[in-house]
Amino acid sequence: MSTIESLRWNGARLELLDQRELPHQQIYVRCSNEHEVARAITDMVIRGAPAIGCAAAYGIALAALDQVRQPHLQISRLATTDALLRATRPTAVNLAWALDQMAAQITRYRTEAGEPADVGAAQGLANRLIAFAAHLHAQDITSNQIMGQHGAALIPRGARILTHCNTGALATAGHGTALGVVRSTWQQGNPIHVWVCETRPYLQGARLTAWELLTEGIPMQLISDTMAGHFMQRGEVDLVIVGADRIAANGDVANKIGTYTLAVLAARHQIPFYVAAPLSTYDAATAHGADIPIEERAAHELTGYRDQVWAPHDVAVRNPAFDVTPAELVSAIITESGVARAPYRDSLAALAGNITPDECRSVVSTRPNVPTAA
Ligand code: MRU
Repeated sequence: MSTIESLRWNGARLELLDQRELPHQQIYVRCSNEHEVARAITDMVIRGAPAIGCAAAYGIALAALDQVRQPHLQISRLATTDALLRATRPTAVNLAWALDQMAAQITRYRTEAGEPADVGAAQGLANRLIAFAAHLHAQDITSNQIMGQHGAALIPRGARILTHCNTGALATAGHGTALGVVRSTWQQGNPIHVWVCETRPYLQGARLTAWELLTEGIPMQLISDTMAGHFMQRGEVDLVIVGADRIAANGDVANKIGTYTLAVLAARHQIPFYVAAPLSTYDAATAHGADIPIEERAAHELTGYRDQVWAPHDVAVRNPAFDVTPAELVSAIITESGVARAPYRDSLAALAGNITPDECRSVVSTRPNVPTAA
């Protein structure tokens, strides 16, 4: 388990490790209301699909807590908060998933307690929502640890692993998805080496993944995204592992821009290409990757960094933050319920419990064969 905490609840506020300041400073930003949480997600104080889902859940809890201080409970404010948070970032489905879970809690509370109106009822609802956000937070850590065991079983001894973006403790409630697999593999005594792609333009690899791996002493080297093909061609990459922001029903994977390029390169060099993501990233309602909304971010993220601007002023820019990797390029999808293989429509549905094992025509392994430490 990592000691890095991307977010923490302090009893009345949400504290977020400001990822814009990493790796040079570790500063926590305090959010006292839903508007501050929404701004923190939009501005990348917190990022990574599972982490923004957890933050959004606490955003709902903060809006409910504020109701306790008001003369009348206005349940409609929670719907407004839901819409505010849902609109912050469109690609990662974990955000909508967490908000759906919180909305279900509000519905259950109203069914059980009647239409809450007084301060006591507002406190009861706030307590329930705080507890449920904490439950989602803890559940994400547990899922990542189990996913780490499933994934570690796929990693050969001494593998040279290439990864993209940041999928570690910073991108989740803790431990990480793809980087969680790397972490678990290392903790089992497997002497791996990690190639960290810098992840242009926002540099999540160079700033965040490099920092996480260095903090734990996991052997790594930073490369620019453009070097990945070179090292694959020279036989210096044994596998690629990435996270996901949304997995469509057919197994197409939306993830950080540049992931598709890596998958094509991995196929060219017959290198396994793994995706690690909790089932909260699986979107059975989206049939294909082409239906996944792709966030476009501000031009300044591409034209420079902070005060440094290297592109001509007023240059025209496109800055999609994510791309879609077709399912046919994915060797396996590692989840907390097991490892899915193609055809993914069946294997993912089986792992999510949407179809029975008898109805599933693809390969699913649900028991990690955990290698013993050296
Ligand atoms: O724009 P970001 O930094 O939020 O993008 C993050 C990614 O693309 C990650 O790979 C993905 O969320 C999986 S993180 C466990």
